[in-house]
Amino acid sequence: MERSVIVHIDSPIAVIRPELHGHFLEHLGTATYGGIWVGRESAIPNIDGLRRDAVVALKELGVPVLRWPGGCFADNYHWRNGIGPYVSRPRTVNHTWGGIIEDNSFGTHEFMRLCELIGAQPYVAGNMGSGSPAELRDWVEYCNFPAGSSLSDQRIAHGAPDPFRVRFWGVGNESWACGGHMSAEEYAALYARFATFVPTCGDVQPYLIAVGPNNNDTDWTRRFFTALSSARTYAPPINGFAMHYYSWGKSRSTRYTADTVREQLSTFDDVERAIKEQRAYLDALTPPLNRGHIDLLVDEWGTWDLSDLAEEREHGRFWQQNTMKDAVAAALGLNVFHRQADKLAMCNLAQVANVLQAPLLTDGERCIRTPTFHAFALMKDHQGKSSLKLDCAGKPATELSVSASRDEHTMYVTIVNPDPAQNTSVRLVCDGAMAASATGWMINHTDMNACNTFNQPDVILPRPVRPELSAGNLRLDLPALSVTHLRLEVA
Ligand code: AHR
Repeated sequence: MERSVIVHIDSPIAVIRPELHGHFLEHLGTATYGGIWVGRESAIPNIDGLRRDAVVALKELGVPVLRWPGGCFADNYHWRNGIGPYVSRPRTVNHTWGGIIEDNSFGTHEFMRLCELIGAQPYVAGNMGSGSPAELRDWVEYCNFPAGSSLSDQRIAHGAPDPFRVRFWGVGNESWACGGHMSAEEYAALYARFATFVPTCGDVQPYLIAVGPNNNDTDWTRRFFTALSSARTYAPPINGFAMHYYSWGKSRSTRYTADTVREQLSTFDDVERAIKEQRAYLDALTPPLNRGHIDLLVDEWGTWDLSDLAEEREHGRFWQQNTMKDAVAAALGLNVFHRQADKLAMCNLAQVANVLQAPLLTDGERCIRTPTFHAFALMKDHQGKSSLKLDCAGKPATELSVSASRDEHTMYVTIVNPDPAQNTSVRLVCDGAMAASATGWMINHTDMNACNTFNQPDVILPRPVRPELSAGNLRLDLPALSVTHLRLEVA
């Protein structure tokens, strides 16, 4: 059955902030240690201890923002353990994730170097669960104060003469669960205290991100804002409110069936609904609850498959193989964020290497790019472009998912057929312009569980497609479980 998609080229929704394509790195499994950090003495080629292949790949991916050090780990992390000469850094236990010992060789400076090398803005999640307001205040000063205070001079002595100028600061993580099992009221009270003491240093005003709901838990949202504002004369600063939304699956990564694929991918309809409802809730806040615009973020999202204990034993906690359906999941998520670009400030895929829906998988000296990597890389075109209104976007993600954006002369369209069994085709009509030429790439495989492995790293790669162009409109065949990305020159 052919479907029609109309792109309204003169009806922009909003600019797609590059931050909607953000990523996340936690001290969990082999995400940080092994996946990104190998240390300067390693035989694995590295730049200042950061594995070179990962740096090259992430730079190519165009990571606009990277969240660190957790996740749940953030509420157990004490930043002072991760600065200064390696030999004097303490050996601590990662009590959050498996009780393994870490030598703290990856700390603040190493994270900032990674961000610098890949061109990402740093987003640091502060420790509210087991830390103090003073510890967070000092971390901000250490990072952002230009010079002259003991903390800033310590940073300079550790090799960073210029402040790191970190703008994004998270105040806790999942405080409703691993971050302290707090009620919304308890979290609001603590949030107000912590946020009050986060300093502006020089001209860097912190952008403070509060813990938002698990999925679309509007009860958390309502109670948090009620508690945050109602009993106070002066409002604590808050810039963003971050929801977490995972797409749980009922199969192990490479054992999906058509039914379990459909079930997992259908969660993206729920993600879109949650974004609309949470944004509507924030917009409806009236004084005294609303004292200025508050951004909505989704700072953890992605597929979470049934764990495979053998693989986890080999590669680390939450290691997940990444298959064709993950490329589709990545594109479905990004399509949702593009369509809702007027409602979102940042989204961070969990996680950047070796954990959950990772763009990179590493094993010793080998590093491979996953189907998720290829979907993000293709869709990078949309970053910073104007998202366009569409007719068809109302269709559930389980049927067909589209997003479109444009700059002056070029339109970018990503079309996903998420059905694991049905081929389809699409007619793309550009309302308000004629497509003069079109180039395209497709990610697809006949096996929904196909994946790139360390021995066969290129099983899934984007390949060029040639859409049929007639009278300024396009026709395309969309195989089952496929991602197609188009660049159209429009006149
Ligand atoms: O991404 C893995 C974990 O999932 C994070 O640490 C936590 O925030 C979430 O529950």
